[in-house]
Order: sequence, then C-alpha cells, then structure tokens
Amino acid sequence: MKFLAKIFLVVFATLLITGCGQADNQQRQVALLFPNPNAGGIWKQVGATCEILMREAGYDATAQFCTDANDQIAQLKEWVAKKPAAIVIAAQDTGVLGEVLADAKAAGIPVIAYDRLIMHTDAVNYYASFENNSVGEFQARYVEEKLNLKSGAGPFNIEFIAGAPEDTNAPLFINGAIDYLKPYIDKGQLVVQSGQIAFKDVATEGWKKENAQRRMEEILRKYYGDGKSLNVVIASNDDLAEGLINAEEAVGYSGAKTIVTGQDAGENGVANIKAGKQTMTIYKNPADLCAKIVRMVKAVVEGSQPAINDVTNIKNDMVTIPSYLCIPMIVDIENIDVVKN
Ligand code: BGC
Repeated sequence: MKFLAKIFLVVFATLLITGCGQADNQQRQVALLFPNPNAGGIWKQVGATCEILMREAGYDATAQFCTDANDQIAQLKEWVAKKPAAIVIAAQDTGVLGEVLADAKAAGIPVIAYDRLIMHTDAVNYYASFENNSVGEFQARYVEEKLNLKSGAGPFNIEFIAGAPEDTNAPLFINGAIDYLKPYIDKGQLVVQSGQIAFKDVATEGWKKENAQRRMEEILRKYYGDGKSLNVVIASNDDLAEGLINAEEAVGYSGAKTIVTGQDAGENGVANIKAGKQTMTIYKNPADLCAKIVRMVKAVVEGSQPAINDVTNIKNDMVTIPSYLCIPMIVDIENIDVVKN
C-alpha cells in the first residue's frame, strides 16, 4: 500500500510539474507574424530586431513570415490552437483577418497590431506604428523645399506611386503627400501630366517594384518623351522608388534628373541614395517600434502599463485602438549615416 501511495504521489507531482511547466511556457510564448519579406519593405530586419528585443524581455518569440494572406491566416490558426501569451502581427492583407482574430479573442489571446492597422475586427488590444500620414507629408515637405515651391517656383512635373490596396498604410502614405502638395497642384506649380492622382490609379499591387516599373514605363513613354522632364516622383517606399529608377533606365529617359522619394531606408534605398539615383527616404527605425511592442506585450501578459500616445484617433471600422505612433525621420545623402538597418 505504502509503495503504491508513493508511486501515486510521484505520478501526481510529475503531472503537476509538467502541467505548470506548460502553463509557464505559454505565458512566455509570443507569436510574431510578418508579411512576405520578398514583396518589398524591410520585414526581415524588422523581424530580427523584434525577435531580439522580445527575447531580451524574457519572451520566447521567433519571427515568422508568410508567403501570402492565406498562408498568414493558416499560421494564425495554428497559433490560436497553441494559445500563446500574445500574438503580434503585421498583417499581409489588413482586410481579411477578422474571422481568425475573432477566434483568437474567443480563446482569450491578446492581439497587438504591428505597423499596419487591421480592419473588420474588435480583437486588437493595441496598435503600434509610425505616424503613417507624416511619412507622406515629410516626403512632400522635402520636395517643397528642394523645389522652392514656397517662393512660387515652377511649373514642375510630378507623378505618384502608392503602395498596395490590401495595406491600410498605403493610402495614408500617398494621401499624406498629395494633401500637402495639393495647393501647389491647384496653383499649377506642380503638374501631374498623367492625370493619375486617385489612390486606385496610383496604387501598386503587392507593393512590387516590377508593377511600379511597368506603370512608370508606360507613363514615361506617353508623357515624358523627347527630353521632357519628370521632375519629381513621390514613391511611397524604396522598392517603388527603385521601380521608377529601373523604368527610367529601361525607356532611356533623358529629361532633367528626377527627385525621387522613398521609405524604409532599406538596403536598396540606402544604396540608391549613395549612388545618387534616389534622393531621400523616410527612416523608421524598427528598434523604436519593437520597443513599444514589447511594452504592449508586457502589458497584456503582466498587466503593466504600456506606452500609449494615442487613445482617440486610431479607429478601424469597429473599434478605437489604443496606440503608440512613433515619429519617422527624413534621410538623404547628408545624414544617411544615421541609418542602422
Ligand atoms: C510599411 C512600409 C513598407 C510597406 C511594404 C508598409 O505597411 O509601413 O514600411 O515599405 O508596407 O512592405
């Protein structure tokens, strides 16, 4: 009897310990999901940075990338079944996650949206990003200064290249720029020869530089032949800027040098700025954003106070999401050394 009781005790204790161990692991496990890194942006660097900061904070997190929106949904489903302490996600497609995030919410898993605001859901606890409309506005202010628009200079020709329709950030970036430059367009100091200014006309499927290149080649052939100048291109990120650069090379563009904006200070953007092919970029240091994300994870797991600087303005179609918005930075050849990507 005594012997049996001992065995029972050992088995019971083992069960208890492994059970607790599992609960403990779940308390430390954080899902870190990012878009397809091969379709533009600097998601590999972002993932690596977040992974390091998460681990330093004591969480078990490995950055995971997807191939497309369906793949990301499948990843999310797996995580919901595993019940991690939190899910951090930069959505591949910000419009299709409502259903799977409802499952996460039902399972009691907190969700934190990284960089891109997710639509059709009330399951997101926090959102951290950069001021996305400022990205476009900063590009526009840079151009305003370079071209001396305030003192009435012009007319200059300008075209716009926006990001992907499936990304909530894309219209914010381009409209941030267009809204700021609109008075100069209205006065005729800036002229959009193609007439393409609505988001649907300037958007780039999948943020892919090849798609931007195709559209810009058409525009260059049609409106900027015979040495006619395309003075400015507002490209919403470095990949789209590269699309324009490649298009100019492909058609043998021979007008005045184009001022080309970008975003991300990615490897290609930095190289193109150093080579004099791209004029500026917007630097969004991933470490700044990931640090806020770590605070948000801590808040949902430990009940501590997250860093929040906006509780009213960030709304999807269902709820207002407490957010932290970092301020992006203008970088050109003069201060390119600040980039740590
Ligand atoms: C990000 C950009 C990135 C783009 C393409 C956006 O949502 O904010 O930094 O360049 O996606 O991946």
